[in-house]
Amino acid sequence: MSEQHYKYVVLGGGQAAGYAAREFVSGGVKPGELLIIGKENVVSYERPTLSKAYCKPEGPKLPGFHACVGGGGEKQEPAWYKEKGIEYLTGTTATSVDIKGKSVSTDKGQKYSYDKLMVATGSTNITLDTFGAKNAKLNGIFYLRDIADGDKLNEGIAKAKNASKEVVVVGGGYIGMEVSSMLTPHGLNITLVFPEDRLMSRLFTPDIAAYYEKYYQDKGIKLIKGELASGFADAGDGSVKAVELKSGGTIPADLVVVGAGAKPNVDLFEGQLDLLEDKPGGIKTNAQLQTSNPDVYAVGDIAAFPQTLYGGGPSRQEHVQHARLSAAFAASEMMAPGKRGDYNYLPFFYSREFDRAWQFYGINQGEPVFFGDASAGKFGSYWIDDGKVVGAFLESGSGDENNAIKQVATVRPSAPSKDELSKAGLDFATKA
Ligand code: FDA
Ligand code: NAD
Repeated sequence: MSEQHYKYVVLGGGQAAGYAAREFVSGGVKPGELLIIGKENVVSYERPTLSKAYCKPEGPKLPGFHACVGGGGEKQEPAWYKEKGIEYLTGTTATSVDIKGKSVSTDKGQKYSYDKLMVATGSTNITLDTFGAKNAKLNGIFYLRDIADGDKLNEGIAKAKNASKEVVVVGGGYIGMEVSSMLTPHGLNITLVFPEDRLMSRLFTPDIAAYYEKYYQDKGIKLIKGELASGFADAGDGSVKAVELKSGGTIPADLVVVGAGAKPNVDLFEGQLDLLEDKPGGIKTNAQLQTSNPDVYAVGDIAAFPQTLYGGGPSRQEHVQHARLSAAFAASEMMAPGKRGDYNYLPFFYSREFDRAWQFYGINQGEPVFFGDASAGKFGSYWIDDGKVVGAFLESGSGDENNAIKQVATVRPSAPSKDELSKAGLDFATKA
């Protein structure tokens, strides 16, 4: 096994890696000092594109959405990394990490030693066989995590268009909502099935969910709530012909897309770094994103960092803004420790489905207060906790309006009565 040394190694060539590289470059990293190791066959790209556009008819293709275009930056194609003297190994899996010995070994038989390591291995989709679902590996059942999954799903869509056109999307969270919207222009019959009593139940209040549920139904998507997909029926040739529900029913399908959650990729670090066994899981870091080994930083989906704005408990954020900001923060800290203070992250979630676009800032804790006019498609919600407004959601906000709700979640002003807040609506944020 040959061995090479780098000052900095980024392990995981996903969303965070591109933003880390950009920060290393702006911090003056020298040619030959930075190595990125990534399993995927392409350099870092904007992962959100996969569930919003990649599988639309005539959807976007790489290199169109390489990082950092989503964050308003330069498009970093492979030539960009070469030009900057960054070694970017694509199609390369790290098979072991020796934290004490400060090295990473890969499936290509190479060993790379480092001074400092950034762990950015992201998440893996939770597959339905984990829950004991029958026939969960039949052809025609798809997940969506990376470009390779997106390419397979595009093939599945082409086949379904020439077959019964029956599609079932499993899961009422982010993937479920975004993928059913993305697939609609293909003219498929889509059923969305999920166990909760409403869409996106971990964020949406019943008022908010009611709006999107009607919107989806008006677009022709059938919603089945309160149901778990417990298995799949085999068409006889190893491909799926129906989704079986826990309650006993079946839904015909020759294409199934599952979005049943994700789990952080931490296996390489078991017994070597402090991991959180219980929720939120992940690799524990301090407020500088340093793990239990000070030369190892964790960023993006796998980092369980202190939520300094909300009492300091460990938080994991499986969202792109955190991947971008934490990667840049850690890169900067790795080069110049202590320069950035604490990683003070304000939780930010967003989604776009059909022509709808919502944003949420802060925490959805306490009592929700709905405002606006759902029938006009312009509405939102605040959350009041301990007398303060701690979170804000807005559909169809302008740039200024979204900034205003962001400010509210940052400042956490005292809340007026629920009635007054609801009446003031967006004015509360814009005038605060
Ligand atoms: P990410 O998963 O991006 O990258 C990890 C990389 O490490 C992968 O390329 C993986 O192959 C690689 N890897 C893992 N183990 C390895 C090993 N042993 N060796 C080498 N490489 C290894 N968020 C949001 O806020 N808004 C949105 O609209 C969306 N949309 C969205 C769509 C889809 C389809 C997904 C799956 C996710 C989103 N997200 C999102 C979530 C967001 O994309 C996610 O939080 C970031 O991608 C996390 O970035 P990371 O770099 O941490 O992991
Ligand atoms: P999620 O946690 O948002 O939703 C999972 C859904 O699957 C839940 O409704 C859950 O109850 C349901 N489910 C689980 N088992 C089921 C079963 N057997 N039958 C029916 N439903 C079942 O997770 P996701 O949508 O899979 O997203 C995966 C990852 O991608 C997450 O990290 C998410 O943050 C990220 N993502 C984020 C965005 C965004 O922020 N806009 C977009 C896409 C993906």
